[in-house]
Amino acid sequence: MPQRDVYNPLLFEIAWEVANKVGGIYTVIKTKVPVTVHEFGDRYCLIGPLSTGATMEVEQLEPPAGNIRDTLDGMEAQGVSYLFGRWLVEGAPYVLLFDTNSVNNRLDEWKGDLWTSAGIPSPTHDHEMNNSILFGYLVAWFLGDLAPKYNADPDSSSSAMVRSPTIIAHFHEWLAGVAIPLCKSRRIDLTTIFTTHATLLGRYLCAGSADFYNNLRNFDVDKEAGDRGIYHRYCIERAAAHCSDVFTTVSHITAYESEHLLKRKPDGVLPNGLNVVKFSAVHEFQNKHALNKQKINDFVRGHFYGHYDFDLENTVYFFTAGRYEYQNKGVDMLLESLARLNYRLKAARSNTTVVAFVVMPAATHSFNVEALKGQAVTKQLRETVNDVQDRIGRKIYEKALRGEELNPEDWLSDEDKVLLKRRMFALKRSTLPPIVTHNMVDDNSDSIIDHLRRLQLYNKSEDRVKIIFHPEFLNANNPLLGLDYEDFVRGCHLGVFPSYYEPWGYTPAECTVMGVPSVTTNLSGFGCFMDENIENCEDYGIYIVDRRLKSVDESIEQLCDFMFRFCSKTRRQRINQRNRTERLSDLLDWKRMGLEYMKARQLALRRVYPDSFLDDDEEDEEDMMPIPMKIPKPLSAPASPRLRRQLNGYFDQDEEEEEEEEDRAPIRLRKEFPALRGRGGEGSREEELL
Ligand code: UDP
Ligand code: G6P
Ligand code: GLC
Repeated sequence: MPQRDVYNPLLFEIAWEVANKVGGIYTVIKTKVPVTVHEFGDRYCLIGPLSTGATMEVEQLEPPAGNIRDTLDGMEAQGVSYLFGRWLVEGAPYVLLFDTNSVNNRLDEWKGDLWTSAGIPSPTHDHEMNNSILFGYLVAWFLGDLAPKYNADPDSSSSAMVRSPTIIAHFHEWLAGVAIPLCKSRRIDLTTIFTTHATLLGRYLCAGSADFYNNLRNFDVDKEAGDRGIYHRYCIERAAAHCSDVFTTVSHITAYESEHLLKRKPDGVLPNGLNVVKFSAVHEFQNKHALNKQKINDFVRGHFYGHYDFDLENTVYFFTAGRYEYQNKGVDMLLESLARLNYRLKAARSNTTVVAFVVMPAATHSFNVEALKGQAVTKQLRETVNDVQDRIGRKIYEKALRGEELNPEDWLSDEDKVLLKRRMFALKRSTLPPIVTHNMVDDNSDSIIDHLRRLQLYNKSEDRVKIIFHPEFLNANNPLLGLDYEDFVRGCHLGVFPSYYEPWGYTPAECTVMGVPSVTTNLSGFGCFMDENIENCEDYGIYIVDRRLKSVDESIEQLCDFMFRFCSKTRRQRINQRNRTERLSDLLDWKRMGLEYMKARQLALRRVYPDSFLDDDEEDEEDMMPIPMKIPKPLSAPASPRLRRQLNGYFDQDEEEEEEEEDRAPIRLRKEFPALRGRGGEGSREEELL
């Protein structure tokens, strides 16, 4: 093989969720863009399918003149439509989106080819599979036409001095995996990486009744896939894992699962990061919490109209969110624990109220009239109060100007009294506040509603745990809860994600970088990652439910304990915990996590182009796992000196801040604001500043 330039490769990253939001893979791709663009610049291009939403996210451009444009021109001449441009996310990378509909007429031909060349069957009616075949064949066509152009390029390969660049094609998940066996069988001159973000069998088996983790080694994989009608999809996933030059996944737990279910041990683990945005003011994220909490408060006032008999100062907001996978995402466990928490708070005569949100999209007809009415009547009341307030203000102003006596008894006119009474009557209702905000298509058989009915969690006045199931992802234009997901998370107190099947789990990770404590499990990639890296996760607001070694009942009890303990915290304790949580952000930043992607790319290049490296030192293939390094307990809970030394100053500065905030701040406060001395009390300004 001729010498190649392995130091300036082109990188194509291929995924179904490029500019196409479905779940966590979109988050991986999007948040990783800045670090990847930093490394590759315009040598980086993402490839995905042309989805309906993509046109909102992509600015169309002419492909850059040269090999890429020539290849796309050639494909276009044969009927392929595509959108090339810049993805309008931070980093603005090149993006190429293929319109799979434009090649529908080739589906049968390509299905036949997949069967003859790779032995992969494809039934007629699996729409998702058909799309993945069309997409895979387009990607393989593109890469297969492009790669030889670089070798044939007179400016590069003909000169002994200039080596032609290598191509790395990094594929994510089985839906983008069809091209991998094609690249291999067509011997396309490039190196491939396949990252799986789950296994199909894992997801299906866990959603059923299998004792998954105890039987991982024993499943008859072909039979299990066949029984669930996913054999053809499984074949693609397995072919992608075996035909890629480097095979990776997102966590050790999924690596273990892949080894047994896909029959290839991953070469390494690429944990997911986030694009961590640091505010210039350290406490800005706390302010954002307070601001967004007010918006949630407004919604709650409306939702519970007529039953608004609890104190929002003593209310905490819990939530879970994600794709509707009732068992895999642990919603079953969450609801069960919430019912126990309700009982415990009542028994303890606690004055804390928990409002627990479940945000999971399901089929709905529309918003529920009762839910809309709640927001409407409180809005009317607010407007009336504002008008009355305005009239009273004008009255007082006039009287004060004239030097007349100010008698509060005269301030409220009879008309205003009537108006206010009418508004207050509108707040009466004979029904309980709804547990779901929408009219469900499947109201009788929906797993969440069904479970809530069994638990009798109906938002009764005496309940200390109230439930709001919002079966739609959130956005700021929503007439009920008009907040984007990020703002909603910031306004909440605790994210609860007791997943049973969760290769990584972005939702608790996102909570962490926003300084919101969360509950995860030791069956989620994220939970295991945090447990490996932090000495005492709970101190940092990462609660890990043991779903491996405990019985289901014990895990439910443990989750209930976590939530009960959280409810007993004072506001000051919650503020401190949020500060600690937010300090973990650096651990999850792509600037750190992205290093594992670099290693995977290095390995892929070395495996395919070993002779093109100028140095002799072999890359240690074992070196793909992250170096273990634990973050010690916060200063207030002293860590062992050994671990502090190991950290080599990584967190030292933060610990000093922690001490200052927890221990020295009161002294400073008293010096600077002597007038506030002795005016403590829950929720007061002094208490907040402490
Ligand atoms: N998410 C969202 N809106 C919501 C709820 C969730 O955008 O109302 C996003 C969330 O930010 C996260 C993704 O959905 O990035 C879910 O990813 P995760 O890895 O937790 O689960 P997956 O769906 O991939 O299994
Ligand atoms: C942030 C704000 C404080 C506010 C607090 C409420 O820390 O900076 O001003 O009092 O949030 O916290 P809580 O946990 O009660 O919502
Ligand atoms: C998958 C997994 C999820 C993970 C995401 C991104 O969808 O279900 O746990 O966070 O991919 O890797």
